[in-house]
Amino acid sequence: MPRAPHFMPLLLLLLLPSLHHTQAAFPKDPHPLLVSDLQGTSPLSWFRGLEDDAVAAELGLDFQRFLTLNRTLLVAARDHVFSFDLQAQGEGEGLVPTKYLTWRSQAVENCAVRGKLTDECYNYIRVLVPWDSQTLLACGTNSFSPVCRSYGITSLQQEGEELSGQARCPFDATQSNVAVFAEGSLYSATAADFQASDAVVYRSLGPQPPLRSAKYDSKWLREPHFVHALEHGDHVYFFFREVSVEDARLGRVQFSRVARVCKRDMGGSPRALDRHWTSFLKLRLNCSVPGDSTFYFDVLQALAGPVHLHGRSALFGVFTTQTNSIPGSAVCAFYLDDIERGFEGKFKEQRSLDGAWTPVSEDRVPSPRPGTCAGVGGAASFSSSRDLPDDVLTFIKAHPLLDPAVPPATHQPLLTLTSRALLTQVAVDGMAGPHSNTTVMFLGSNDGTVLKVLPPDGRSGGAEPIILEEIDAYSPFRCSGKRAAQMARRIIGLELDTEGHRLFVAFSGCIVYLPLSRCGRHGACRRSCLASRDPYCGWHSSRGCVDIRGPGGADADRAGNQEAVEHGDCQDGATGSQSGPGDSAYVLLGAGPPLGTPSPPSDAHPWPQPSTLGAYTQ
Ligand SMILES: *[C@@H]1O[C@H](CO)[C@@H](O)[C@H](O)[C@H]1NC(C)=O
Ligand SMILES: *[C@@H]1O[C@H](CO)[C@@H](O)[C@H](O)[C@H]1NC(C)=O
Ligand SMILES: *[C@@H]1O[C@H](CO)[C@@H](O)[C@H](O)[C@H]1NC(C)=O
Repeated sequence: MPRAPHFMPLLLLLLLPSLHHTQAAFPKDPHPLLVSDLQGTSPLSWFRGLEDDAVAAELGLDFQRFLTLNRTLLVAARDHVFSFDLQAQGEGEGLVPTKYLTWRSQAVENCAVRGKLTDECYNYIRVLVPWDSQTLLACGTNSFSPVCRSYGITSLQQEGEELSGQARCPFDATQSNVAVFAEGSLYSATAADFQASDAVVYRSLGPQPPLRSAKYDSKWLREPHFVHALEHGDHVYFFFREVSVEDARLGRVQFSRVARVCKRDMGGSPRALDRHWTSFLKLRLNCSVPGDSTFYFDVLQALAGPVHLHGRSALFGVFTTQTNSIPGSAVCAFYLDDIERGFEGKFKEQRSLDGAWTPVSEDRVPSPRPGTCAGVGGAASFSSSRDLPDDVLTFIKAHPLLDPAVPPATHQPLLTLTSRALLTQVAVDGMAGPHSNTTVMFLGSNDGTVLKVLPPDGRSGGAEPIILEEIDAYSPFRCSGKRAAQMARRIIGLELDTEGHRLFVAFSGCIVYLPLSRCGRHGACRRSCLASRDPYCGWHSSRGCVDIRGPGGADADRAGNQEAVEHGDCQDGATGSQSGPGDSAYVLLGAGPPLGTPSPPSDAHPWPQPSTLGAYTQ
């Protein structure tokens, strides 16, 4: 539902001409090579809470997040963390936790008094991160008074005292948060108050002094929604979307950002930025389709990585259009080195209150360059950020935003979808295929479908992404949750277990796992097997289309010198009976359109049909 319906006619007038301009070049939605559902999937591949838990029976799991450590999958949920031994649980076996911890809110009455429904007064475990090799940090909303605890990783027993969860965990489970430990300190980003008005990027619990972002300063953070945090080099990076300060054309425009702070930041001096970051800088992420007028997917939903793409380290983001715009999604990858280069760019500022935002000329930027980590590079002569000159501290406080926008890898989205359900989640296998060098993206949608996608082959240019498989992963029967009825189909988590060859999919009410490939579904012919383009599948002379990682797959690879004999019921013509060496579907990659690829229907239209548009003008 559009947030501001009265804007719609105006918005459509503004958008439609630009769409017509870009239409010629705008990529059409690719058609999936295979559409399937979970029929035949074992009922044991589902988990929606403990069997004897009456609350779970009523409400479902209330999934919060996944954490994979070694061969253990941890699932944070309402009042519980469940631990699944991935080693012990093979395909087809039940998804039963080997251990779990229960941590209920002690403050339910207090919560109800604060005007929240008792229904909301649970402990939603929103933070679950490894603290060291033996300990986990878990933080829960605890009925709107967040608390953290540490637990032994293997025992799931509580260790030590409880800690405040403020600025580490949101008060309200619907607020976003991210957290990561780096060099012994917790870097967290969330809303630090009950009203969710104090957004914060915070460091605590480590050997260094606690630091935070400037409070109630919309230049630093403006209603952010955090999706990912990552340690890299001298910095910790945060990925989020927020209401932009620099583009106020249509009211509240969301932009996607990457921000970073120095790990060795000690805060400012008593005169400026005392106990605040002196290195907080942010950039816009540019996920757009180039054309006569650039079309932006500006609303970051989820991010995965780093994973290798074309031999470089990249982050994969799922983006959608503005909520009051024509709905559409895109996947853009960003090379880490492009992001780092962006942080060397010019600062951005608004010269007058109603003026546009423009780059700051270099002669107005003090030295050492604001935002540089003390002790390195241009700031090498300053042993601590506390010693930085006042003008540097004053400048960085007022200029957290840089001018460049990080371009997407290959300068365009890896995939755009404008005529189907919006994307919500992403997981990426950067080591698929027989040579462990193929990238496969798994995308979750708000209608419960999982898309398995090969990104375009960056080297040959002009190639298109291929949707290998579209799987309807939701089952209302197995995954119901009274509370979640409205959003029940929305995929809110994806976690790869490449060793176990499966993908965990989380809905609010439950989790389920799917095999990464079901090669048998590609038919009994070598031709249809190879046409699947599935890097996990290969043709085996006697077993047919098999998973090349499985036991039969090893044979498929080795079958190179054997004469493959077609078997089964091949109806797809003479080519299907050609024999050849044990090939994998991977071999056809980049070799032009595969045999048997369905061509898109001629009425395929990149944009929603008028009837869909009409719904927004009402
Ligand atoms: C992972 O598990 C293996 C086998 O249990 C163990 O030997 C290894 O130390 C574990 N690694 C980590 C990082 O916990
Ligand atoms: C985003 O990228 C497109 C295409 O590469 C470019 O035309 C556009 O100017 C960029 N936008 C920003 C804000 O940098
Ligand atoms: C993967 O590795 C194989 C064998 O080394 C090579 O032929 C192929 O070009 C590589 N593919 C990519 C996408 O790098």
